[in-house]
Amino acid sequence: MLSLFPASPFRLFVGPQKFTFLPHGDLVLAMFRSSRDLTAKPLTITTLRDAFAMRPADLDVFLRDDSGIHTKPLPGFESFPPPHRVFFTQHRDLHALLSGTALDVMTARFVAHYSAQLRATPTIPPQGDSWTVLPDLYAFLRQEMFTAATTALCGPHLLRLSPSFTRDFWTYDKDLMLFMRRTPRFLARSAYANRDRVVDAFARWHEHAAAHFDASKLGDAEPEWEPLWGARLTRARVLMFEGAGLSPHGRASQDLGMLWATNANVIPSTMWALVEVYRTPGLEARVRAEVEGCWDEGEGGFDIARLCAQPLLTSIYHEALRYSVGVTPARNILVPEVEIGGWRFERGQTLMCNPWFGGRDTSFWNVGRVVGGRPEHPVDEFWAERFLEYPDDPASGPVRKPDESIYQKASGKPKTVEDDRTAKVVTAGTAGHFFPYGGGTKICPGRFFAKQELMAAIAVLMREFDVELADVEASRKTKPDMKYFPAGSLPPDRAVPVRMRRRR
Ligand code: HEM
Repeated sequence: MLSLFPASPFRLFVGPQKFTFLPHGDLVLAMFRSSRDLTAKPLTITTLRDAFAMRPADLDVFLRDDSGIHTKPLPGFESFPPPHRVFFTQHRDLHALLSGTALDVMTARFVAHYSAQLRATPTIPPQGDSWTVLPDLYAFLRQEMFTAATTALCGPHLLRLSPSFTRDFWTYDKDLMLFMRRTPRFLARSAYANRDRVVDAFARWHEHAAAHFDASKLGDAEPEWEPLWGARLTRARVLMFEGAGLSPHGRASQDLGMLWATNANVIPSTMWALVEVYRTPGLEARVRAEVEGCWDEGEGGFDIARLCAQPLLTSIYHEALRYSVGVTPARNILVPEVEIGGWRFERGQTLMCNPWFGGRDTSFWNVGRVVGGRPEHPVDEFWAERFLEYPDDPASGPVRKPDESIYQKASGKPKTVEDDRTAKVVTAGTAGHFFPYGGGTKICPGRFFAKQELMAAIAVLMREFDVELADVEASRKTKPDMKYFPAGSLPPDRAVPVRMRRRR
């Protein structure tokens, strides 16, 4: 059906607001290439206000700054005070401190905390051969991955100071679209009260960290991670927003945004990857073969670069994003008029796109052989090998080839560990249909951490536990929960029970 998706931009009315939706393909790529003439500022401000509860006085700090995201301020803003250039500083810090050494440290922290938690969790008894039934694997990940990632980003005190934080955060995440739709407070009192509690938790932690952090004890170099503020990025942002004049509440709501971005997409995507690994016959053994070669003996950690270079696991990571991400990058026009892919757009218009539709375009993606009148791997199903090209299988690779006879002749023989070793991950040619991280200069700065976290989360879980889906057939009915659309990666629409036991 999505092959009939319009090929030209079309208008959308959401309440009083007017948007122009760009269909996937060349137009989306052209939009990302036009970053210089576009801005994400209006969407950022709307999101800060509606999703992250920022108050008007703090929003003004962002509204005033039209100096752009680049080192050189935009014309007219040459003498705008540097501490007030919040869009530029935030953009610079996010990209610098979520890559390189800072990224390595954050990932190592995530792996260390996640491993230690899984070893200590009382949910799965420490000894014996018996299996423990967990009513929902996603609930387990929401607890364990969230704790580890939050500690890697913020240190341990945010969670320690607010014991109900994890539960409150996921309730907030469930309610997010309600906030985005600007549901009045009187119609959703408990949702708003819960969000207030989440923002207060950030403010409490900031106050604690500021009171105990002694900057005079810092040497020449900023530590990449310390327990009070967590990652260097977190402290840098809090200091920067303080310097720009944001109130304690404003700084708390900024960090809610950061923590939401860090967790609310990776964890559902990891869930889909795991469901597939444990659902498809033979897949777990093939992934395990890749993962075991990356364990660092004795260290309890991973050779993360090697892990992230494993073909099958990388394809599963890409497929998890293709399958589950329904996010809406949006841009406004900075210049009087801009030409994008042959279309002219004027200042004031809001352009939007969403990888969900490109990811489900049946005319684009390889859906395997047609067996009994049905594709073997339809776009609305997860196919672990979708992003792999096997040298002796011309029917492999993500993009559907025009010569249909290739698929008719394909043997459909199940792939083996040996086949996976020769496979190549292919994303070339998919960019217009596959953009889970957005694109252009505003592309998601957390994408490297997201990839490492997702792959490490699978590897650590496999190292610690045997896992079986409690009901494979029932798990096939599980679909992405459209109630979360279009805010990011969509979690499963129902609980997925599993059996787990510790590996010896
Ligand atoms: C599967 C995981 C993830 C997905 C699908 C995702 C997706 C996105 C998308 C689509 C955007 C907007 C990009 C655009 O407008 O072109 C974005 C922005 C952002 N993401 Fe991610 N993201 C993920 C993980 C992460 C992680 C792990 C972090 C932090 C470590 C993160 C931090 C951010 C931040 C801070 C922004 C806003 C950047 C800005 O305003 O310049 N994201 N993300």
